[in-house]
Amino acid sequence: METAKADRRILVVNGPNLNMLGKREPDVYGSTTLADINLTLKNLGKEAGIGVDFFQSNHEGEIVTRIQQSLGHCKGIIINPAAYTHTSVAIRDAIAMCDFPVVEIHLSNVYKREAFRHKSMLRDIVHGQITGFGAVGYEMAFMALSRLIP
Ligand code: DQA
Repeated sequence: METAKADRRILVVNGPNLNMLGKREPDVYGSTTLADINLTLKNLGKEAGIGVDFFQSNHEGEIVTRIQQSLGHCKGIIINPAAYTHTSVAIRDAIAMCDFPVVEIHLSNVYKREAFRHKSMLRDIVHGQITGFGAVGYEMAFMALSRLIP
């Protein structure tokens, strides 16, 4: 958990199975690992003077707890809730508590996939969604968020 003050600090949250990026269905999710993505974001953060914290979990409740812990400690969240996007009222409720901008990101274009992936529990409470640009989507989310936070 971050201890630094909230100034220019953001949190990047990744949900279940995203720890397997690089190995997981590379035709759908690409060959970039989560460690690669996080390093890129860390470097973008350094350039922009924004501290970036990272959290990945395969467990819904852990994600909820981490979002709660970020309240008062960060200025924005980038979140890929993965499969929980489509099901989790608990993550929605946690995000609804955030008084800062939240960007939802998906590597794949969820709207081109199975119907059950077309529904996002977060879609009406996030600032915006980025979907279908692979790992680059995280950089896009960072760029968007960096312009939204004071
Ligand atoms: C995902 C899309 C979800 O439908 C899926 O369950 C994931 C990853 C994406 O980044 O494209 O795990 O969020």
